[in-house]
Amino acid sequence: MIDVIWLLIRWIHVMAAVIWIGGNLILAMVIVPYFKQNLPLVQRIKLLTQVGKRFEPIVWGCVIVLLFTGIANIFQIIDFSEPLSNEFVNNVMRTLSIKLILFITLVVLTGMHSFVFGPRLAAAIESLEDSIDELPEDIRPIHKRMSIVSSLMGVVSLLILLAAVALGMGI
Ligand code: HEM
Repeated sequence: MIDVIWLLIRWIHVMAAVIWIGGNLILAMVIVPYFKQNLPLVQRIKLLTQVGKRFEPIVWGCVIVLLFTGIANIFQIIDFSEPLSNEFVNNVMRTLSIKLILFITLVVLTGMHSFVFGPRLAAAIESLEDSIDELPEDIRPIHKRMSIVSSLMGVVSLLILLAAVALGMGI
């Protein structure tokens, strides 16, 4: 019975990871390139803002789920009643620390994307015509920052997956 509970916790953890990271990657690899090819810049940013807003509650739900199920996973893989200084535990602690730093980095980047640069860019382009394909000079830096944060989110997402796989392998 207890194994079924651990299985469910691990399954929910991986589901939240797939939904968040997979969603980020689908946006970056499919939706953004498709919009780039087919829509003028302003319309593309407006649509991406709407898509982003729809995805936001799902993302923050996944962040909370990952944190709680991640903490539960730690209790499943480490036996805290035994002495904690063997090679497996040392490896787990090292990789887990890296994973947590990456997780916090991704949460901060996602927060900047959702609550700082995203709303600023959306407000700046609100009154522009959809058909415009080049942003006015004063809006370009916000757009640039938004692109940089989005790219960093993609890279950190992939690195977290690497850390997760390493953790699963006891590396
Ligand atoms: C974006 C964030 C995260 C992603 C994408 C992610 C992904 C994953 C995946 C795919 C696994 C399964 C690995 C396997 O069994 O082979 C896993 C396991 C695990 N995760 Fe996460 N995770 C995230 C956040 C967290 C957090 C915040 C914690 C800790 C607080 C955590 C702790 C763990 C632990 C302890 C395991 C078990 C590793 C093992 O099987 O040895 N994860 N994670």
